Amino acid sequence: MITKPKGTYDILGKDAVINGYYNDICESYAKLYNFNYVRTPIFESSDLYHRSVGETSDIVTKETYDFKDRSERNMTLRPEGTAGVVRCLIENKLYGNRNDAIKLYYNGTMYRYERPQAGRNREFTQFGIEMFNSNDPLSDAEVISIGYNILQELGIESLVVNINSLGDKESRQNYTKALVDYLTPRINELCEDCQKRLKTNPLRILDCKYDQNNEILKNVPKMTDYLNEESQKRFKEVLNNLDVLEVDYVVNPNIVRGLDYYDHTVFEFILEDKGITLGAGGRYNSLVKELGGPEIPAVGFAFGNERIINELKEHSVFSELPEDYQGNVDVYIMSVSDEEKLNALKISQNLRLNGISCEINSNNLSMKSQFKIADKLNAKQLIILNSEDLQKGLINIKDNATKEEQKIDEDEVVEYLVGIL
Ligand code: HAM
Repeated sequence: MITKPKGTYDILGKDAVINGYYNDICESYAKLYNFNYVRTPIFESSDLYHRSVGETSDIVTKETYDFKDRSERNMTLRPEGTAGVVRCLIENKLYGNRNDAIKLYYNGTMYRYERPQAGRNREFTQFGIEMFNSNDPLSDAEVISIGYNILQELGIESLVVNINSLGDKESRQNYTKALVDYLTPRINELCEDCQKRLKTNPLRILDCKYDQNNEILKNVPKMTDYLNEESQKRFKEVLNNLDVLEVDYVVNPNIVRGLDYYDHTVFEFILEDKGITLGAGGRYNSLVKELGGPEIPAVGFAFGNERIINELKEHSVFSELPEDYQGNVDVYIMSVSDEEKLNALKISQNLRLNGISCEINSNNLSMKSQFKIADKLNAKQLIILNSEDLQKGLINIKDNATKEEQKIDEDEVVEYLVGIL
C-alpha cells in the first residue's frame, strides 16, 4: 500500500464538512470587506522566496520544497501566499492608475518541510488577505478586524490579537543595534540557533521557542522604546482604530515574525488558553519595491486553516456529526426491480433539477439495507417505488419521521415535496 507523505493529511468525513463551512465563512467575510479572489501558482521561481521571505529566515534556509524542473530552472513550492500575490500584483500591473486600495484574498495549499506535530504540517492551507496601496493606519486595523471578526463568527473563544510595531527602517536599525549590544556578552547562555541568529537575524532571537523562558530574553531592551516619533504615532493610531472596532488585543513586544518583509505593525491571532497561533500578518511597505515594482505599501495576514478547523471540531454545531459523515439528503428513493430502478433514476433527476437533494439505490441493495442507508443520510422523506403503483401513475411517499405514507400522482411529486420539505 502506498501511504500519504509524512506531514500531509486527507480531509474527509466530518473534517470535510467543517472545512466547507469554514471556507464559506472566510469567503463571505472577504466579500463583506470587498476583497477580491486571486489564485497564484503553487510553484514559483525560487528567487521569489529568497528575495521576499528572506535568505536567512527559517523558511528559506530549512523548510522550502525546492526542485529543478526538466529545463533545470530552480522552482519552489510556495511556503506562503504573500510573495506570490505581490509577484502577481507587479506582473499584472494591478496598481496602474489607481489611488484606491487593492484588496485581494486567497485560500490554498502551502508547503514547508517542518517537523510534523500538532498544528504543524508539511502541506497545509492558508486563507489570506493582502491589502495594497494604502499606508493609512486605518487599513492595518481593517485587516486585523476582518480576521478577528471571522474568528468571532466561528465562535472561537479566548482569542486575543497580539500586536507589536517593528517601526520603520531607522527604528528597526536602532533597536537591532541595542539588542545586539545587550545580547553579545550574554549570547553563550542562549541556544545554538540563537547564537547563529545574533549574526544573521538578531530580531528572531526574541521569538525563540527554546529560550522563551530564559531571563536573558525576558530582560531585553523593549522594541517600543526604540520607535522613532513617526513610528510611535503610527502604532498609536493603529491601536486607537482597533479600539474603535472593539478588537481585543494586547501589545506583545516579542512578536517579531519569521518572515523578513515586515515593518511597522505585526500581529498574531492567538488562542490564549492553548497558546496556539491561528494566523498572523503585518505591514510590509517595502516588499513590492524589493520585488521590482513601484513603492506600494501593503498589509495582510494569513490563517492556518487546519489549526482553526481543529478548534471547530469541538464546536457545538459539529459535535453531533459522526467522524465518518457521508452526507445528508432530503429524499431517499427506494427501488428493487429493474423497472423501479429506471423510474428511480428518472425521479431523482427531476428532484435534483428542482433543488431537492436525493439519493438512489445504486448498488442493488435489499430494501432492508436501503432503509438503513436512508436513516444514515437523515433522509426526511422516502420514495418507495413499486410496480403496482407505478402502473397507475402513483408514487408512494413515506415521511421518515412520522412513518405516514401518501400516494401522490407522479406529476405532482415535486410540488408535494417542495411543499413539505
Ligand atoms: P506565517 O506566520 O508564516 O505568515 O503563517 C501564517 C499562519 O499559517 C500561522 O500563524 C499558522 O497558523 C499557519 N502555519 C504556518 N506554518 C504552518 C504549518 N507548517 N502547518 C500548519 N499551519 C501553519 C505567513 O505565511 C504570511 N504570508 C502572512 C501574511 C500575509 N503576512 C502578510 N500577509
